Amino acid sequence: MSLSTRDRLTIGELAARSGNATSALRYYEELGLIQAERTPGGQRRYRRATLRRLAFVRAAQRIGLSLEEVRDALAHLPVDHVPSSADWSRVARAWQRRIDAQIAELERLKEQLSGCVGCGCLSLTRCGLYNPEDAAARQGPGPRYLLGDRPPAR
Ligand code: FES
Repeated sequence: MSLSTRDRLTIGELAARSGNATSALRYYEELGLIQAERTPGGQRRYRRATLRRLAFVRAAQRIGLSLEEVRDALAHLPVDHVPSSADWSRVARAWQRRIDAQIAELERLKEQLSGCVGCGCLSLTRCGLYNPEDAAARQGPGPRYLLGDRPPAR
């Protein structure tokens, strides 16, 4: 039986197909993100459906979810059968607000940065790059004005 049709995969096969290191798979298993069955010899075997969970983990991380948040999301999937598309949709809907907020944040950042490219005004009141005497540091770490903070009044 070929790898593409087999229902149980070794950790090496799962790693190769999912693009994750075997150490990452063991870690994900430790966190409860994926589950393995054991052969009589103690080797891990993963259901093919684990690939979908791993794709979900990868996508969730790309939108900034922590592994703990991913675990919470995956906890809403059934464990007694392979999740249906309706099950996955329900889980994905919970991300909608998060994704919308991130899109809004990226749009704001894009506007700010593209406003500065070729502008050169370094305006005290509206520029996200202008930061004389590192006044932004008083508001916390990171690029404060690009994160949405306003420069202090002068
Ligand atoms: S350089 Fe003009 S707004 Fe930033």
